[in-house]
Amino acid sequence: MTSSSSTAAASAPGSTLSLAEAVARRRNFAIISHPDAGKTTLTEKLLLYGGAIQQAGAVKAKGEQRKVTSDWMELEKQRGISITSTVLQFDYAGNTVNLLDTPGHQDFSEDTYRTLAAADNAVMLEDAAKGLEPQTRKLFEVCRLRRVPIFTFINKMDRPGREPLELIDEIESELGLTCWPVNWPIGSGDRFRGVIDRRSGDVILFERAERGKQAAERRLSVAQARATGAVEPELLHQALEELELLDGAGAELDLELVHAGELSPVFFGSAMTNFGVRPFLDAFLELAQRPVARSGSDGPVDPLREEFSGFVFKLQANMDPRHRDRIAFVRVCSGRFEKDMTVRHARTGKTIRLSRPQKLFGADREVVEDAYPGDVIGLNNPGMFAIGDTLYVGRKVEYEGIPCFSPEIFSWLRNPNPSAFKSFRKGVNELREEGAVQVLYDTDASKRDPILAAVGQLQLEVVQYRLENEYGVPTRLEPLGYSVARWVVGGWGALEAVGRLFNCKTVRDAWDRPVLLFKNDWNLHQLAEDHPRLELSAVAPVVSGVEPIAL
Ligand code: G4P
Repeated sequence: MTSSSSTAAASAPGSTLSLAEAVARRRNFAIISHPDAGKTTLTEKLLLYGGAIQQAGAVKAKGEQRKVTSDWMELEKQRGISITSTVLQFDYAGNTVNLLDTPGHQDFSEDTYRTLAAADNAVMLEDAAKGLEPQTRKLFEVCRLRRVPIFTFINKMDRPGREPLELIDEIESELGLTCWPVNWPIGSGDRFRGVIDRRSGDVILFERAERGKQAAERRLSVAQARATGAVEPELLHQALEELELLDGAGAELDLELVHAGELSPVFFGSAMTNFGVRPFLDAFLELAQRPVARSGSDGPVDPLREEFSGFVFKLQANMDPRHRDRIAFVRVCSGRFEKDMTVRHARTGKTIRLSRPQKLFGADREVVEDAYPGDVIGLNNPGMFAIGDTLYVGRKVEYEGIPCFSPEIFSWLRNPNPSAFKSFRKGVNELREEGAVQVLYDTDASKRDPILAAVGQLQLEVVQYRLENEYGVPTRLEPLGYSVARWVVGGWGALEAVGRLFNCKTVRDAWDRPVLLFKNDWNLHQLAEDHPRLELSAVAPVVSGVEPIAL
């Protein structure tokens, strides 16, 4: 697939935008959802509107990828699909839209979380029949940490689903996120007739088309819908009554609250039949946050700061297996980025010339001439960049790092061949630096093997594969029976103060901070009850300026 229209306007010779114009027209978002909610389908429809792909099916080569085994060939193939959906940029209605994709279920890893650190907005996609699902909740929590604005798209309205009011109530009560439905469904499943656009009051009719075909969207006033009998009176009546109820509940579409991540505009639609996707995209572009100031060590950095700055949020090795390359994904935060620019690397103080910055669109790459806040560029990474690193021009800027997220899978990493210890050590240290996996250590110094900690099984498989292929050390994983990790706020002193703890294991992280591992949430809650003064955190505080402990 190619990005015919992508940055054309921004990069065409002679049509260079001013920084303010470029920022004003940019919107950047990630979709958060549980597998099967319809993310691939929605992405594809959005790209079709943007003219970035010409036909349906270009994104979706997924059916056969579903049954993934842990065989590396399959793994590579699977990584292929997560890579083909890494950053998608398209132009639509005068805007440049960057869709930062978070990979799907099987390759769920810390990358998924880190990508959200680069997003200014999130679209939470739900299946109308299922409502909130586990992966969506986890990703939502990460968005909440940064108060990212959330737009909700309730999908699959063409199929029998749960009551819309119940779905809204679930989001409000379980996520603590106030909802403001932008449209409201008329009927559902077999009797789904369309939506009422709450702001114009229009009825948008859903006309069923053959599976896979685009549904027609006809707009009528409520009076016309009544007069023409386009919608059964009782369905229209019910929808209007529910809307009244919502109006009575009092929430208003307050953009400030939307941008603070406290109020979510909600849309109902059906990605597969393409119903409600265009109105969603139009409203999203109107209501979403443009690239915002990001926190740096000296306070927020305005995207309109003339000099370029950005940070690395993701590293990907072997994106192209033929070249065994490594790419660092950089989110542009301020200024105009230009090819061949000389920048400073904040952590090391080194000066680097960025001669081959790339634009990544799915599997395609092209050398990028310029980029603006909200965009993502790919840089070749010969081991120089780590997650969270800042690049800048001019006065020094250092962005807040990206935190380590609470791992859920823990495994001893055994090296069965002591003579390969040097390579083993090098591999573990480098992969940790790269952010491929978190590394923990036993507090008992005689147990020297590292404990790998990950948020997804794929991370462990990738580490094992890479240790063998890139460092020549076959390893063995030995799972530890824990599933929850918590950092002790206050460090070793705070931990010692509470005395002996039961039903958990104390380990240390790469910065010698105490981490408690629990078998399950129940044990965690038990400990919290027994020791109310012990403060625990699911996210590791960001460290800067301290070198981690190597294996
Ligand atoms: P994901 O990326 O979130 O995992 O979901 P994906 O888009 O692959 O969609 C999962 C399944 O849900 C697909 O069906 C897709 O066609 C279907 N789907 C997506 N949006 C809608 C919708 O609005 N209405 C209905 N009825 N179905 C929808 P599948 O059978 O698994 O795949 P396929 O046979 O369509 O390829």
